[in-house]
Amino acid sequence: MNDSHPNEILKMDLSGGDNDWSPTPHGQLLALALAENNLVRGKSVLELGAGVGNHTILLLRQEAASMVATEITTERLETTRSNVERNMESPWPEPNIEYRAADWLATEGRFDVLVTNPPFMVSGKQNRRYFIDSLILDSYKRLNPGGTLVFVQSSMADTAKSIRRLEENGYAVRALATSRGPFRDYYFEDPAFIEEIQDVPDGFELKDGEYTETLTVLCAVLQPYSPPAIAH
Ligand SMILES: C[S@@+](CC[C@H](N)C(=O)[O-])C[C@H]1O[C@@H](n2cnc3c(N)ncnc32)[C@H](O)[C@@H]1O
Repeated sequence: MNDSHPNEILKMDLSGGDNDWSPTPHGQLLALALAENNLVRGKSVLELGAGVGNHTILLLRQEAASMVATEITTERLETTRSNVERNMESPWPEPNIEYRAADWLATEGRFDVLVTNPPFMVSGKQNRRYFIDSLILDSYKRLNPGGTLVFVQSSMADTAKSIRRLEENGYAVRALATSRGPFRDYYFEDPAFIEEIQDVPDGFELKDGEYTETLTVLCAVLQPYSPPAIAH
């Protein structure tokens, strides 16, 4: 059993090309929360949008029994694969992983744990929360009974709304970690984004000219549910 100190498990040599997503404070907080809470030992894990593999490697080091890591293109998936291969050499456990190019939840199988850092600010969707809302509505189709959904989001994506919608959709929710930090420079490059966030309750703070967001890692456990016999 590998019970490495969180600092050890987080040490990685990651590389990526211009098209790959470089880890941001969102990904760093998710990594810390995962490192401090082993949710995957002996479990089957689905990771959506694996990027440079920063969480993939961590989850494999924590002895996930099996993993499927997805990305939107095969090119991005090659980055995930090469980083996993380089960072999972001995003494880390032999990784049991499958790489799939897939559009978000449009993939096969059911898993014990689903982990992701969903696109938000640059989601490219009219509903910027699209990928978060999609998880809330449809991740149950990818989860085993009692399965766990773990994701990170910004206060600007309305954390209270996510918690409320998760509960409405049959999840018991807790926060694994939170952190506060300044806006990234690219937030200001999209005026529509800056306008939208004005309407999000507790979306951000503006103090002495500095904008701050709060990041939260949510851990949502699917509760038992049996639809009534008359359901379609
Ligand atoms: C916010 S980044 C997170 C990357 C990495 N997991 C991390 O935390 O640093 C979101 C990732 O989702 C991928 N992505 C975007 N749209 C996707 C889709 N429809 N299906 C699967 N992955 C997608 C992007 O390529 C990107 O790598």
